[in-house]
Amino acid sequence: MKNVAVIGSSGAIGKAFLNQYLKDSSISNIYAISRTHIETNDERIKYIQMDITDEKSVENAAKTIKEKYLDQIIIATGILHTSSFGPEKSIRDISVNKFVEVLTVNTIGPALVGKYFLPLLNKKNKSVMAFLSARVGSISDNKLGGWYSYRASKSALNQVIKNFSIEIRRTNLNAVVIGLQPGTVKSKLSEPFQKNVKEGALISAEESVTKLFKVIEGSSNIESGSLLSWDGQVIKP
Ligand SMILES: NC(=O)c1ccc[n+]([C@@H]2O[C@H](COP(=O)([O-])OP(=O)(O)OC[C@H]3O[C@@H](n4cnc5c(N)ncnc54)[C@H](OP(=O)(O)O)[C@@H]3O)[C@@H](O)[C@H]2O)c1
Repeated sequence: MKNVAVIGSSGAIGKAFLNQYLKDSSISNIYAISRTHIETNDERIKYIQMDITDEKSVENAAKTIKEKYLDQIIIATGILHTSSFGPEKSIRDISVNKFVEVLTVNTIGPALVGKYFLPLLNKKNKSVMAFLSARVGSISDNKLGGWYSYRASKSALNQVIKNFSIEIRRTNLNAVVIGLQPGTVKSKLSEPFQKNVKEGALISAEESVTKLFKVIEGSSNIESGSLLSWDGQVIKP
């Protein structure tokens, strides 16, 4: 029987991952980890409260997991805008406070998750830690500019993912660490920008997660450290 964890289970993509795991009867424990409490009525779901920007909170969440290993860990947290700011449209919009907040949630938080959760990955069978990243974190793919802090936070996250994949190989040859590009997904995060999305390109979180599941299932040591798109393609850094 398998154990899995979804960090950011209150978000659109995180919730869709939870629902997908619920369909799998080979999973005995599903850890739903989020800052905001979520209601569930399935006894396989164990809720853990956690703020990804608070190291003690991340450490305590990892300690709460009593099972000795996790087969899959999904990190679906992230911000692009908050109630007080949106992504930078130009150089003029760059500010220390906004930049620090975006980097703290999108890069440092996931790095802390790696610090405390990577040791929990199953060593006997294939196990996967998958971080929701973004195509806009690819420097070679950047043609439009803008969104300084979000782009930079995801480029830096992709570097952290690569580092994790290198370090974990020394202790766990069965661990795969990947970044995922989910497509343009209907969620609170994408809501202000949905009107700019081409007809047909905006997908539901359920649709995205169905595809991301296939990518996770098909991933191996060869892809470890890479950013993979929902269609399985490797996105160049
Ligand atoms: N939607 C898209 O089109 C799209 C495209 C590319 C990449 N992504 C990436 O996919 C991931 C998930 O996005 P989404 O679309 O599902 O957005 P969402 O619905 O807004 O979910 C964001 C999640 O991040 C959590 N979060 C934010 N700050 C946190 C903190 N300090 N501690 C713990 N949790 C925190 C939120 O928790 P609360 O409920 O507590 O706020 C929520 O669970 C993000 O990394 C995003 O960059 C999304």
